[in-house]
Amino acid sequence: MQEKIIILDFGSQTTQLIGRRVRELNTYCEILPYNKFPHDDKSVIGIILSGSPFSVYDEKAFTIKLEEIRGKYPILGICYGAQFISHVCGGKVEPANTREYGRANLSTFQHNNPLLKGVKENSQVWMSHGDSITQLPDNFEVIASTEKVSNAAFQAKNEALWGVQFHPEVFHTEDGTQLLQNFVEDVCGSKQSWSPDSFIENTVAELKKQIGNDHVVLGLSGGVDSSVTAVLLHRAIGKQLTCIFVDHGLLRKNEFADVMRDYEGLGLNVKGVDASEDFFAALAGVSDPEKKRKIIGKGFIDVFDREAKKLKGVKWLAQGTIYPDCIESLSITGTVIKSHHNVGGLPDKMKLQLCEPLRLLFKDEVRKVGYALDMPKHLISRHPFPGPGLAIRILEAITPENVRILQEVDDIYIKGLREWGLYDQVWQAGVILLPVRSVGVMGDERTYEQAVALRAVTSTDAMTADWAHLPYDFLAKMSNDIINHVKGVNHVTYDISSKPPATIEWE
Ligand code: XMP
Repeated sequence: MQEKIIILDFGSQTTQLIGRRVRELNTYCEILPYNKFPHDDKSVIGIILSGSPFSVYDEKAFTIKLEEIRGKYPILGICYGAQFISHVCGGKVEPANTREYGRANLSTFQHNNPLLKGVKENSQVWMSHGDSITQLPDNFEVIASTEKVSNAAFQAKNEALWGVQFHPEVFHTEDGTQLLQNFVEDVCGSKQSWSPDSFIENTVAELKKQIGNDHVVLGLSGGVDSSVTAVLLHRAIGKQLTCIFVDHGLLRKNEFADVMRDYEGLGLNVKGVDASEDFFAALAGVSDPEKKRKIIGKGFIDVFDREAKKLKGVKWLAQGTIYPDCIESLSITGTVIKSHHNVGGLPDKMKLQLCEPLRLLFKDEVRKVGYALDMPKHLISRHPFPGPGLAIRILEAITPENVRILQEVDDIYIKGLREWGLYDQVWQAGVILLPVRSVGVMGDERTYEQAVALRAVTSTDAMTADWAHLPYDFLAKMSNDIINHVKGVNHVTYDISSKPPATIEWE
């Protein structure tokens, strides 16, 4: 059984970061809404209570029955989690005179407390709170203070129950990882057994059990998540898996053929469906971004549905949903907001059961699993590419001709990034075809052609992104190559907008 830490989410923006830090300690963890603790799960070795946007006195504040978990598991409360523990155990939490936000230093602390082992003198911590714990409950003791916050960290005497007012999960807390490691390894006794190999072994065994002799259908997109899902399933159930890869005609140059070859090389049973004519017909004359997305979404479902119906005895629909998708889907109250992230509506219509073996992994973990499955590097390290494809990078109505122009420009740019060793330094890159005609001169000829914008961003999760500071020499070479080789383009610009306030895609 895979031992795990449970992080109960009270709504803080840094809850996901706590999860990342615990996983980095090779310890499996799950983030659950604060009121969804799995009381009958025997594999839980410890609990972390997250921060929250609420004060413990807010009417809407999220609460749990601490007595149901206290004494049964080691517990660490962070920020609101610490205030909550203190509050329900009889301590006093009061609004701080000034909201405390930013750096502080642990001026005094108990070096020999198990939670603080290895934490350095004057260690910097990151604070972000409006309330302060002004009095600890009886039988609790303070184990660390900062200049302004006397109860910065505390423990219930002789109990595996701690609270810290600061945020050990954020980068600016110098010894935060050490503190979490002390909790996860020394206190909870994690054997640090989570690794891509152990994940594969457990998941393959579970999939075999879950699926039995049934048949599974999977929509492949060419992206990392669906590809890793396919290879995992293939390992578990072999020929019982059929993958469908739909070409909507809006992929990158040669992408359909290249990806099909990769998939076949992996031994997958893939059915490639060229539906580009249907998509072009449905998109004719449409320039509104949202309409384009809806048409493509529906078109994809129709093709997938039609193809899947041709297969006999399919009971499961597999999807490459990953953890950030689930987080968006699950509100903190446990209500499912959008359950079918990749192919919305299909399972309902087709009466299939969902199989999402990667739903608890982050993107970088998915990549590690991909490598452990011996999948080729170019497939695993690919940049994200949006489902609607080049349609949302052409800021006008789609025609086969403007798709061809964009494919040519994009191909030069992406190959250039690879040749210059820049591809792996950026999160994502692509080109936008602008609905602008401008005058240029080539030889003695006047040209009146289109402009393109090159885009490359750095990011860790696509939630925020910065424009990549690509070398001028590289940009100059790209501009030259593009204008010389792609008929129809006579201006090249580089997009220097960050997200927010811009987004990565233009539509
Ligand atoms: P934005 O443009 O919102 O994009 O900053 C964030 C990330 O999501 C990708 N993206 C999509 N992916 N279907 C997808 O599968 C879509 O409709 C879609 N729209 C944006 C985008 O490429 C970036 O990685």
